Amino acid sequence: MSESMNRRDAMGIAFGACAAVGGIFALAGMKKAWDPLPSVKAAGTTTVDTSSAEANVMYTEKWRGKPVFILKKTPDMVAKATENEKKRDVIINGEHFLVCIGLCTHLGCIPSYAVATQDFLCACHGATYDQSGINTKAPAPLPMLIPPFKLDGAKIVLGEEGEEYTKMKTDGVLGDVPLAV
Ligand code: FES
Repeated sequence: MSESMNRRDAMGIAFGACAAVGGIFALAGMKKAWDPLPSVKAAGTTTVDTSSAEANVMYTEKWRGKPVFILKKTPDMVAKATENEKKRDVIINGEHFLVCIGLCTHLGCIPSYAVATQDFLCACHGATYDQSGINTKAPAPLPMLIPPFKLDGAKIVLGEEGEEYTKMKTDGVLGDVPLAV
């Protein structure tokens, strides 16, 4: 074997070894990129303290980039609620709340709450929703969706599934199926 051949082989082996090591580091880097950061996992939930919420005042929180409506109902609203409306109520320390994603189920505009009539109007194409976010006028095809939530005392943790949410799922009132008012 010639000397130049030996040098070429040695360089080839060294180059191959470097490439292999580089590949391992590249894979390790990719693995790191695939794993969600702890801060990203935490960002999946939003905690809302309802202890100072006033009745018939709309609060809008942000969860995973979406508006979430939180509305504490007045005793009158609770008294006149239909069975389907009651099933969608989140009850915290005896008080009834609407918790729903504040996006119209027609094409995704943000409906506005009317304090006087205690219902919602979507100005984009005229859909309306009742005090529990159930669609009452076309073109909205469905109620506003209820996000996964769990209760922690007076706090609502959006993004985690608690037993109250599971019950709503069983009752079929989350907003992913049509509901009669
Ligand atoms: S987006 Fe609300 S009625 Fe069309």
